[in-house]
Amino acid sequence: MTKVLMVCLGNICRSPLAEGILKSKIFSFKTFVDSAGTGAYHVGEKPDKRSISIAKTYGIDISSQKARKFIVADFDLFDFIYVMDNSNYSNVISLARNENDKAKVKLILNEVFPNEDLDIPDPYYGGDFGFKNVYKMLDEACDVIAKKINPNG
Ligand code: 4NP
Repeated sequence: MTKVLMVCLGNICRSPLAEGILKSKIFSFKTFVDSAGTGAYHVGEKPDKRSISIAKTYGIDISSQKARKFIVADFDLFDFIYVMDNSNYSNVISLARNENDKAKVKLILNEVFPNEDLDIPDPYYGGDFGFKNVYKMLDEACDVIAKKINPNG
């Protein structure tokens, strides 16, 4: 079983989309996908309305997700921890206990633009365009991740 965790700050805008998009591309019972936030502000909440709405446009229902905080035990549970931006990267790396933990953490856009260390911009304070833009970037990244995890599927 391959386990993938998507991480952003609030776990209400970007990582819920990343979770929903990757799940939609992987038709295997051997993969588990989840998401979490490094901040606790929105724990227990549904994804942001704008994330739910853009996902729905593409036929993906993320409305039943609930925000949770990233915890150190996630390093034990997950094989790949994809963070949305450099700030998330620093926050997650600061919790790593060893090199093995650190090696699991990757910037998600490096799957599309290797070594460029680009951010998925935080769309929280922007308008709907930001969410569309985020969706497109995550869709491309998740295509690459899905092929890596499940080359035949
Ligand atoms: P996310 O966006 O990290 O993509 O879920 C944010 C949502 C909420 C906040 C920041 C970013 N906030 O500060 O409340």
